[in-house]
Amino acid sequence: MKSVRRIGVLTGGGDAPGLNAVIRAVVKAACNAGIEVIGLKDSFDGLAYPGRTRILRPNNVTGILRLGGTILGTTNKGNPIDKVIDTPDGQMTYGDRVVQMFGREKLDSLVCIGGDGTLAISYEFHKRGIPLVGVPKTIDNDIVGTDSCFGFDTAVVCATDAIDRLHSTAEAHKRIMLVEVMGRNSGWIALHAGVAGGADIIVIPEIPYDVNQIVAQVKDREHMGAKFSIIVVAEGATPKDGRRTIIAEAQGARLERLGGVAARLAAELEPLSGKETRYVVLGHLQRGGAPTPFDRMLATRLGGTAVEMVRNGIFGVMVANRPPSIVPVPLSEVVGRSRTVPLDSDLVKTARALGVTFGD
Ligand code: F6P
Repeated sequence: MKSVRRIGVLTGGGDAPGLNAVIRAVVKAACNAGIEVIGLKDSFDGLAYPGRTRILRPNNVTGILRLGGTILGTTNKGNPIDKVIDTPDGQMTYGDRVVQMFGREKLDSLVCIGGDGTLAISYEFHKRGIPLVGVPKTIDNDIVGTDSCFGFDTAVVCATDAIDRLHSTAEAHKRIMLVEVMGRNSGWIALHAGVAGGADIIVIPEIPYDVNQIVAQVKDREHMGAKFSIIVVAEGATPKDGRRTIIAEAQGARLERLGGVAARLAAELEPLSGKETRYVVLGHLQRGGAPTPFDRMLATRLGGTAVEMVRNGIFGVMVANRPPSIVPVPLSEVVGRSRTVPLDSDLVKTARALGVTFGD
């Protein structure tokens, strides 16, 4: 087995609270094992473009455990591998340049921290000969092969706090209050925050909704004496007979931007229910701020285990949370797939048993 002397670390895709905790763990664990760490700025751009690398030593990561964002920067522009770029050596594809610079920088391996998009790009580079380990990150919690991703818990805490706050004003004004949360094609944030916050109606992409069912639930509550309703709606929620709401179409390699479903539902619900309706879109608040202790712990364990994989020569894998352990899972089993909420999960069943409706 080739001895590992120098590794690169990068963060890609949308940020998530806990990225800095992973970077810190990678730097400390690697340096303590005598491995030099190079921080690559803005994901793989750190290798594709000049002047975007820096040595990271333990003193460079002191105090970042509790910080949101990423000290390395990130990009969320889709898969750039086939893009032709200008380099000091002439024009070449982004993918070729990254492989070339990996060699020139004398790196032995990469630790790539990112969501489904970054892990898919990483897998491409692994197939092109770069030995690497992936670390799953997303507030959406939709990565296959791992029980949970860091960032998710922080997002759920943020959304639950919003629901708690909306309860009192909804009750005071006898209104319907909608809160739109992130999650792309999965309803994990909506489901967990909805149950934790005691929402009356939870609308998730996995269960297409019928607005009349939502109105029926509001009216049922009214008959029972509850004059207000709290609705949590995931950004990817889709009506039974229509399309999901988007802010912007997909552009080139960039995914479409989801959003607007709470506004749409509020406009439909007010006349149908006869109740004043307001909505809040939490948006990027869910991605900002300090990671929760759970996310710091998970991120630290993933970063430490990623370095262990590198030292043991285990590449082409993602480190995954499979309680009570962190285990390697081949990237080939992860990329191109998405983990959605199983409709027979105990949380969905329990919510239904407690009288929550999913609008179906
Ligand atoms: O994947 C994480 C996520 O926050 C999604 O929940 C959301 O749809 C998307 O990223 C937003 O991305 P951007 O910040 O690029 O608009």
